Order: sequence, then C-alpha cells, then structure tokens
Amino acid sequence: MVSVVVGGHYGDEGKGKMVSYLALKDKPAYIGRAGVGPNAGHTVYKDGKKYGLRMITCGFVNPNSHLLIGAGVLVDIQRFLEEVEMTGVGDRIKVDRRCAVIEQEHKDADHSANSKKIGTTGSGCGPANAARVNRVARQAKDFKELEGYIADVPQLINDAIDGGEDVLIEASQGFGLSLYYGNYPYVTSKDTSASTAAADMGVGPTRVNDVYVIFKAYMSRVGEDPYIHYLTDEEVEKSSMWTALLERAKAEGHEGTTNEMLAKHLGEVGTVTGRPRKIGSFDYDLARYSSRVNGATQICITCLDKLFPECSGVKDYDRLSEDAISHVGGIEEKLGVKATLISTGPDVFDVVDFRDGRE
Ligand code: GTP
Ligand code: IMP
Ligand code: MG
Repeated sequence: MVSVVVGGHYGDEGKGKMVSYLALKDKPAYIGRAGVGPNAGHTVYKDGKKYGLRMITCGFVNPNSHLLIGAGVLVDIQRFLEEVEMTGVGDRIKVDRRCAVIEQEHKDADHSANSKKIGTTGSGCGPANAARVNRVARQAKDFKELEGYIADVPQLINDAIDGGEDVLIEASQGFGLSLYYGNYPYVTSKDTSASTAAADMGVGPTRVNDVYVIFKAYMSRVGEDPYIHYLTDEEVEKSSMWTALLERAKAEGHEGTTNEMLAKHLGEVGTVTGRPRKIGSFDYDLARYSSRVNGATQICITCLDKLFPECSGVKDYDRLSEDAISHVGGIEEKLGVKATLISTGPDVFDVVDFRDGRE
C-alpha cells in the first residue's frame, strides 16, 4: 500500500501528528517527506518530548522505518543535520541526490518587500525554488556535508513498492497554499496537492492507493491572504461553541481582538515563525474542492478536543460528546463523505480510527 498524507486547508492541520500515528499504527517500511521544504513546521510528541520538524518526516517515531527526502523537496543542510542529530536517525535516512539546496542568498532574498507582502516563512524556499526553475540552484549531491545521506530515492521507494512493502508519503503545507490552486499570489512556491507529493518522491500516480486529506476541526492561517474570511466578532457571538471558547480565552487572561484571543487559547502560533495564526470556522467549500482535487480516499479531522475539551484523548467514537459528534457530522454532511480518522489530542495515539468501518 502506498499512502499520501496532505493538508486540506491552509497548512498546520496536524499532518505531522497524523503521520506519526500512521507510522506507528501501520508500520510502513518506508516513509518519505515530500512537499516544499523547511518552510513547513510539523509538530509531533514522542515519549512526552515535543519535536518541531522542518526537514525530517514525523514518521521517524517508528524506529524500524526507512526515512527518505524526495527529489522535489528543498533541503536546508544545516537544519537537516540538526534534525538528524536531534532525532538520532542518521543510519536510516536518505536524501535524493537531486534535491535543490537552500543557500544563504535564498534566505536573504526571502526578506524582500514581496516576501513581506505575502508573509512568507523567510526560510528561503521561494527564492530557492526560483533558482531551481532558473536552473542555477545547486543540488544535494554537490555538498560534502550530505555525502553519507545521498541516494536515488525513486529507486529505493519503487523497489520497496515492487517488493510489496508499505510506503507512507508526508506532504507539507495545505491545499489553500498551493501555487496552482491557492489564492495567488498569497501562496507557497509549489503545488501542494497529493499528485505533486507523489511526484516529489518519484512515485507514479497509478501506484498510490490512499490519499489522506487532513483538516482541522476549524481553520487557521498564518501569513497574509486578503481573500480569506476569518471569524468575526458577530459570528463568535452567534455561536455557542465559539462564545464558550472566547470565555475560556478571557479567563486565561488572553488579550487582543476576539480572533487573537481565540488563536492564543487554541495554541495557534506558527511552528516556524512564532507568528500568531488567524482563526476561521471550518471552510466547507475549500474542503470539498480540495478533497476532490487531491482524490481523497480518507478524511481526517484533527484538534476536535480544542473545540470540545471533554473529548480530549478519546479513542472510541461512542465516547465523543454529542456536540463533537454533531460538529463532525456537519462536516461529513457538507463534504458528502465520512471521516475515517479523528484526532482528539496532540499525543500520537489520541485518535479515533474507523478506517475499517464505523460499527
Ligand atoms: P505544516 O506542515 O506546517 O502545515 O504543519 P502540520 O500540518 O504538521 O501541523 P503543525 O504541527 O504545524 O500544527 C498542528 C498543531 O496541532 C501541533 O502543535 C500539534 O501538536 C497539534 N495537534 C495536532 N493534532 C491535534 C489534536 O487532535 N489535538 C490537539 N490538542 N492538538 C493537536
Ligand atoms: P513560503 O512558503 O515561506 O514562501 O510562504 C508562503 C505562504 O505560505 C505564507 O503565507 C506562509 O505563511 C505560508 N506557509 C508556508 N509554509 C507553511 C506551513 O507549513 N504552514 C502554514 N503556512 C505555511
Ligand atoms: Mg505547521
């Protein structure tokens, strides 16, 4: 089985957490990191320790899986080496020799007036992808520091698929940030859909069995995008769920606008940049569209416990509260598909898993 995990909204949907769950539950032999590059910040908790990963797949939590970085991904060498050290995966990770490398000049260029207008992560990804398209970027194979890690990733991964092994591919960002399908120019420097994630790894579309599209139970966005509708004071007032969360935010002493207080209460702060994220209610139209373009076979909803704290850590559907079930049901009805995984906490195994059916 080959599975691809992508974000269905604007990134930070909890792909990292879901990949770590699938890595431990399904035990894939190979786990690949696809997507743009170190602009992503995936968060995963292992043995009570928090890891903020930008280069290495969150699937590292399974000590038996081989880890790969696909040719489509931009590599920040220093960051990669730091994460190898932090996670201790040096003997089981490979980087495709053709990955383009982010250099200092790309990071510097990512603080231009245009980068600021878009609110980029400043990680150099846009300028490095531009250099790649202009065919002036350097590749992973050109750097001594990466010597022990270089491989032909498509060969490894296709050999594994031919041998009947399971492969998990972790994408980054979200559908609404796609260079093709997002609100251009307020987008990242590459397409973020499942097809591109597979291409990043050198896996053909006919070989992909499952596409997991991850949504958060509400929407968050970091960086600029004037086309997005964020939660307004009036909408919060009209909803008992949001009003209750705002009361909690105030009780915790958070200050600012309603949206800022909610973001702080929900812990919505950028992993890479530390910037506060803006909050919206679940965007059904975008979710429907992105499920379609991604070819979703599995729909995952994360952070249900943040809206309904009584569901924290719940692993059985029957033990979810009525409000939470009704929220999930509303999403399913509007998307016309059933959710197959629901995440109820940051911990790897805080998951309701009904991929085998609901009864
Ligand atoms: P990008 O690649 O940057 O788009 O990131 P991501 O999709 O991996 O998400 P990120 O880790 O940036 O943000 C998700 C946050 O929510 C992290 O802090 C996770 O630990 C946390 N998280 C994920 N799932 C859940 C959940 O079900 N409940 C709670 N409370 N936290 C969760
Ligand atoms: P860039 O990818 O750094 O060029 O940033 C372009 C836009 O995508 C900005 O609005 C960023 O905030 C957003 N973005 C890029 N990567 C992520 C991510 O991993 N999570 C959320 N937003 C992201
Ligand atoms: Mg993130």
